[in-house]
Amino acid sequence: MQHQKILILDFGSQVTQLIARRVREAHVYCEVHPCDVSSEWVREFAADGQLKGVILSGSHASVYEVDDKAPDAVFELGVPVLGICYGMQTMAQQLGGKVEAGTTREFGYAEVRARGHTPLLKDIADFHTPEGHGMLKVWMSHGDKVTEMPAGFKLMASTDSCPIAGMADVDRGYYAVQFHPEVTHTVQGRALLERFVLDICQTRADWVMRDHIEEAVQKIRDQVGDEEVILGLSGGVDSSVAAALIHRAIGDQLTCVFVDHGLLRLNEGDMVMDMFVGKLHAKVIRVDAADQFLGHLAGVSDPEAKRKIIGREFVEVFKAEAAKLISSGASTKGAKWLAQGTIYPDVIESGGAKSKKAVTIKSHHNVGGLPEQLGLKLLEPLRDLFKDEVRELGVALGLPHDMVYRHPFPGPGLGVRILGEVKKEYADLLRRADAIFIEELRSTLDPISGKSWYDLTSQAFTVFLPVKSVGVMGDGRTYDYVVALRAVQTSDFMTADWAELPYALLKKVSSRIINEVRGINRVTYDVSSKPPATIEWE
Ligand code: XMP
Repeated sequence: MQHQKILILDFGSQVTQLIARRVREAHVYCEVHPCDVSSEWVREFAADGQLKGVILSGSHASVYEVDDKAPDAVFELGVPVLGICYGMQTMAQQLGGKVEAGTTREFGYAEVRARGHTPLLKDIADFHTPEGHGMLKVWMSHGDKVTEMPAGFKLMASTDSCPIAGMADVDRGYYAVQFHPEVTHTVQGRALLERFVLDICQTRADWVMRDHIEEAVQKIRDQVGDEEVILGLSGGVDSSVAAALIHRAIGDQLTCVFVDHGLLRLNEGDMVMDMFVGKLHAKVIRVDAADQFLGHLAGVSDPEAKRKIIGREFVEVFKAEAAKLISSGASTKGAKWLAQGTIYPDVIESGGAKSKKAVTIKSHHNVGGLPEQLGLKLLEPLRDLFKDEVRELGVALGLPHDMVYRHPFPGPGLGVRILGEVKKEYADLLRRADAIFIEELRSTLDPISGKSWYDLTSQAFTVFLPVKSVGVMGDGRTYDYVVALRAVQTSDFMTADWAELPYALLKKVSSRIINEVRGINRVTYDVSSKPPATIEWE
């Protein structure tokens, strides 16, 4: 099935991905590509007749600092174009208007008057002034501004400081706004983007995860044929959903390798096996490598050194298992494919790096050289999907809600939650304390929202501090270890606030840990936000 699509050209704004997420939430397929693609590339992208509109993103730069332009083909395709912030400015400049360099930056909340009745803003307003003008509450972040509209455009929105805050050429389907509709601070942002993609571009809202399974399954079958696939299962959301999807497509042609490095949470390994072997009947090889990992970690206390060792050992163990499957697959032909749970944000980050547009680039373990080293072809069935979509797909595939909506867990696992040297004794104590914390977060409901505190936090865990403090228990003095509880709320993990958990919940967790986990006699709660602290302690 061919999906109609929207092209988002990325001029380097940190929130470009949010544009794509809003479009996908409207059930419309879209792709993000760097703004410096060529006109030929754009025409090729549109050649299947499915391209229904283009969105030009914002940028972290000024039109005077960089010479990024939209490829000319964008304005020759005959499809609607929406410019956002820098995207509006480049649209104005490219079509014959004027942009003036700003001396000050307008940043943050603004109220914008929606003028005229363009199809984009018609009947969309947050409130009306006494004179009857529709007003929008928006988020602005710009220095430069459009001072002269190109021929054919009319004014669509304005503020005192930014008289041309929106413009439109309705006949050609060109729209532009200086504010950012993709961020949630722009109250009507979602409505505006939906209006653009559904009404103005007239796309079909056919990007639905429930229906996507069939399509994805067929694609995997076509790709793989009767060859065998290996997948590294970590128990995290992405690899779990990838495993369930590939298993649905090719059954026993898939073998999962689950490396237990001894730094997983309480019973985590058994739960992964129960789910994938017990319920889905998938083939999973569980490699118990705890001794090997702990052996290499002995005496090492530097966080980055620990990360490197865990990462290196992980690859070693995985490669050894994969080698066996490659040389003698169940069908004696040997595995030919390596599946990875790469998701769309990983792919966009890599694309951004190539065109030097993205400001923050995280090196991601998925985009590594493992397939080449193993001589395997790469299968990435989630690479078109955002995290929310991967979760929806997981639920549609029958994975339990708890597994699909779990908090992120770092690859090095408890290795970075035990400060300093990692020892089995510490890991065992931490696992038990952490399980109590998570259990209480899951079972304590916030009376106002009715949600559990696990669902109200983005990430929560326990950290082991290898220091001893004095306590008293019964008639005796104790001299035992300390743990810290950490719970944060965040939308992007780049910044985070510590969660204001109810005292009663903290009290219960503390009391249970100290009473049930012999060896820990003190529990603290971490009240640091990110920045300047990070979410993990190492
Ligand atoms: P920080 O501590 O940098 O964490 O505020 C941000 C997010 O990244 C996760 N994290 C990691 N994930 N390997 C991973 O796979 C790592 O080495 C690692 N370090 C931090 C962290 O759990 C949080 O979600």
